[in-house]
Amino acid sequence: MTVPSRATTPALLQVDAILSRLTGRQALEEVCRFLRHSFSHYPWVGIYRVAGTDLVLDAWDGAQATEHTRIPIARGICGQAVRENRSVVVDDVRSDPNYLACFLETRAEIVVPIHHEGQVVGEIDIDGTTVRAFDASDRGFLESVAVKLGAAVERSGSELPLG
Ligand code: SME
Repeated sequence: MTVPSRATTPALLQVDAILSRLTGRQALEEVCRFLRHSFSHYPWVGIYRVAGTDLVLDAWDGAQATEHTRIPIARGICGQAVRENRSVVVDDVRSDPNYLACFLETRAEIVVPIHHEGQVVGEIDIDGTTVRAFDASDRGFLESVAVKLGAAVERSGSELPLG
């Protein structure tokens, strides 16, 4: 699917508004909620924080909780995005040996790193329910959201969660 270009600017302004209004975990939860409810192909949205050699789930929004609240950076698609310091789009999770299964209905996944001072400090993780759920428009949009989250980390002078 896709994020229509006409939706990008208003959505990024909304993210700005959330990050100026809220801090800490509440801000991250609100960003997850906003993304899930704005885009029907984002049924599960999470934000993980880098904590030493692990990723820790700071905030999420979706129908179900995940058992993967702490993932070693050495593992999973989530770990791969940190290790390779890049956005990872998996068109079909069933053909990716890196994939750590969370939900039966997940068929595609996108993970986008959040940077602060040149380091990956966290990531946005979205599970989709159709093969090839995410394309370059999703990657571009979510990378812009990640830049805003990185800037909020900078403003708050701390690591994720912000504030
Ligand atoms: N599928 C991820 C694990 C996190 S869940 O999708 C929420 C992975 O392979 O790293």
